[in-house]
Amino acid sequence: MTEADVQEMFDIGTWTGPFDPEMQRRALAALEAGRVVFFPRLSFALSPGEARFLAPEVAGKSKNISVDPKTRQCQGTALTGKDAQLLAAMIDRFGRCATSLVQALFPQYAVALERARTSFRPVEIAGRSYSARQDDRRLHVDAFPTRPMRGRRILRLFTNVAPDETDRLWEIGEPFEPFARHFLPKLRRPLAGSAWVMDRLGLTKGRRSRYDEMMLGLHDAGKLDETYQSQAPRAALRFPPGSTWIVYTDQALHAALGGRFALEQTFHLPAQAMARPELSPLRVLERLTGQRLV
Ligand code: SIN
Ligand code: FE
Repeated sequence: MTEADVQEMFDIGTWTGPFDPEMQRRALAALEAGRVVFFPRLSFALSPGEARFLAPEVAGKSKNISVDPKTRQCQGTALTGKDAQLLAAMIDRFGRCATSLVQALFPQYAVALERARTSFRPVEIAGRSYSARQDDRRLHVDAFPTRPMRGRRILRLFTNVAPDETDRLWEIGEPFEPFARHFLPKLRRPLAGSAWVMDRLGLTKGRRSRYDEMMLGLHDAGKLDETYQSQAPRAALRFPPGSTWIVYTDQALHAALGGRFALEQTFHLPAQAMARPELSPLRVLERLTGQRLV
């Protein structure tokens, strides 16, 4: 696999558009095929007062700082008081830029698009220690234990805001369908009633569907399979400072190997809002299993 197989490049320098229809069409087709939509010169400008937030000490134990767009609450920072507020304002401003770009580039998503959390990732990825299941340096599709998606898509936009030459280094693996075909037969079905119990205990935000159980199963099985991790096909991508990329991380197998100082915005989208819903993980898994999963 090469870079060209997994990435489509666009030479834009604005978060607001307008973008020509041919570019919109090309970006949408690439995105829904599970490729990375890459903008090598779309940067996010920090104000002079914000440059001091480019320091790993700004993060608390969790490494990622996140802001909930509904409450504007900032979580995970070691900063307090006025500084924490200014940091949250920077993260929120990025989230608004990200939202305007996605709406302008993918107008057909605009009505159904839900802006979820915005995050700031100031800590270097390489050389940290993680359990295998939490190690995002291993190829995986995103699926979160506490956040059932019930078939909705996870779309993410990242910008590298490093003040130096530090690229963010990723790998992208094979397409979703062959990955799912490989691991589905190995998954064990969770105990009957466990989704209900976890929801009642408040361990999940809403009840997991079969879809969520399967996606978590694929996430874990893929990360824990050492042979797959060492031998599966992949292409390496470098995202330099001042660049931005968008990808369906529930579909594109990805691994984040290195880098620091990224901003990230997550969106949720119903599969029906896609131009080609049949490419969504939900529809692919329903086709492979012959079952309704939500
Ligand atoms: C991930 O979603 O696996 C992490 C991506 C990143 O922080 O670059
Ligand atoms: Fe991930």
